[in-house]
Amino acid sequence: MVCLGNICRSPLAEGILQAKADAAGLNWEVDSAGTAGYHIDEAPHELSQKVAKQNGVDISFQRGRKLRKEDFIAFDKIYVMDSENYNDARRIAGDYWKENKVDLILNETYPHENRSVPDPWYGGFDGFIEVYEMLDKACDKIIKRYTSR
Ligand code: 4NP
Repeated sequence: MVCLGNICRSPLAEGILQAKADAAGLNWEVDSAGTAGYHIDEAPHELSQKVAKQNGVDISFQRGRKLRKEDFIAFDKIYVMDSENYNDARRIAGDYWKENKVDLILNETYPHENRSVPDPWYGGFDGFIEVYEMLDKACDKIIKRYTSR
């Protein structure tokens, strides 16, 4: 799960998908990273932690890190939150880029529409709730695909 700061959106996406995978009995390792290094080793934004906790998901132990090109080998699938993340991820990956591994996460909910998860960084708690709900739906779609075959 990749966003810009690895402090608001992608920590939520990591926590939500990991919780759903665990509940579904899938042995998945879910991780998150940022395309920028502004918040390395920081805990998630307090409002991301708050909305997660309200929904029974603990993300307080997560720490920010920057996306690295080796992630494109280590992980089977890489979801980005917006088109800027997509372009930044491609730049970071360089010759490790794997086009078919990378997608905008909202293409799970709205196939081929290339919608973005809005950055809640500059807004209030409502924005974090909206992001949580978008990611929750997208992660349900991901889990459904892997449990219905
Ligand atoms: P995120 O949000 O990409 O969802 O983690 C942001 C966090 C920090 C900044 C921008 C976006 N920042 O400019 O520091």
